[in-house]
Amino acid sequence: MLKVDLSAVRSFVNVDPLMNEAIRALDVLDRRTGAGNDFLGWLDLPENTSEELVAACEAVVEDWKKAGINLVVAVGIGGSYLGAKATLEALSHTFSSQLGAPQVVFAGHNLSEDYHSELLDLMEQRETAVIVISKSGTTTEPAVAFRIVKEWMEKRYGQEQARQRIVAVTDAARGALKGLADREGYRTFVIPDDVGGRFSVLTPVGLLPIAAAGFDIRALLQGARDMAALCREQSEANPAIQYAAARNALYRSGKKIEILVNFTPKLQYIGEWWKQLYGESEGKQGLGIFPASVNFTTDLHSMGQYIQDGERTLFETVLSVEAPKRNLEIPIDPENLDGLNFLAGRRMEACNRMAELGTRLAHIDGGVPNIRLEMPRIDEYHLGALYFFFEKACGISAYMLGVNPFDQPGVEDYKKNMFALLGKPGYEEQTREIQKRI
Ligand code: PA5
Repeated sequence: MLKVDLSAVRSFVNVDPLMNEAIRALDVLDRRTGAGNDFLGWLDLPENTSEELVAACEAVVEDWKKAGINLVVAVGIGGSYLGAKATLEALSHTFSSQLGAPQVVFAGHNLSEDYHSELLDLMEQRETAVIVISKSGTTTEPAVAFRIVKEWMEKRYGQEQARQRIVAVTDAARGALKGLADREGYRTFVIPDDVGGRFSVLTPVGLLPIAAAGFDIRALLQGARDMAALCREQSEANPAIQYAAARNALYRSGKKIEILVNFTPKLQYIGEWWKQLYGESEGKQGLGIFPASVNFTTDLHSMGQYIQDGERTLFETVLSVEAPKRNLEIPIDPENLDGLNFLAGRRMEACNRMAELGTRLAHIDGGVPNIRLEMPRIDEYHLGALYFFFEKACGISAYMLGVNPFDQPGVEDYKKNMFALLGKPGYEEQTREIQKRI
């Protein structure tokens, strides 16, 4: 199971006084008495996700397999995108698309015309199915992408076949997507009312695309279940307490930026998912740790200088994996022209480990505190555990900060401007105002 190592935090700040504060925040979270307590359905997902729901996800995948589907387009943004994307990036063969494996790809997480045109090129070559995901059912990016993809599917397969190849994941009753799905007769999965987007990876939002990519959602949920049990402990043994206490201690000592670090590209999108989780949950009322992420050793050659030597407002949280899936030895070269024979016969991972250790020591020497999260392996079980750990720690941490972790009022501002600029009906006044500024 995931372990939290705070040894390289304790040399910078005293974490102990904050442990009790974190335990109190956990109590508020688990008793459901804090701000945003109508959005705590995610706490119950590991235990309460029904066999029926898991089987229904698997049944869709089975149907699509029988129909020869080899491309699934998952349409969604933010919390309706990042959990599935992170899981697929972590679990898939890095070159699966080049190897010709069936694929899940994403749409509606940007408004790029080139991206979506090129997606249609790919769909042209494949047997395609679509999962359209939006809790509100009204988010512009996925709605625009879905309109394009739906039209394409209907032209290619006809309305009836297209209908069988499209599944909607949305609210039980509200939103334009729900209305559209009902009218078209799409198979529909429900995002529970009390689960916000960034906490929804263990709902059909994540489960369906993850299952569609061939991964074991039962193991994912089991990992989350085991972690949920650990994260209920009102003690310093609870990993979520340790993490929340440490990051708040660092924040209060002036460390305003947290960098989530990985040493394998498989975890790059875990960083993206984590940034949304913490950024949207904590960044409000002029408060909050700024969440950033880097991919080492790649980014040691770009961001390394700043982290080592720039403004000292950073701390790192390193997500370290004990064992890679594969084993690759560095060969001997009789001529040793590159001078690397001292590494011959050793695993590439040995170099990665020493890079990790060397970086940790250098950054600590440079004044960068280091939280180390050690996960045994990258698989479904440990990813499920990791998601729940980060979610629980996020709730605790935000309560310690004094903000409501479950709203995101700031996300609306760009949308209002965009609608005003696009001339959306109902925005006439804002359109007039914004025109004066440009
Ligand atoms: O965490 C959140 O609530 C948001 O980031 C949403 O996930 C994102 O805006 C997408 O919303 P929706 O699923 O309603 O389309």
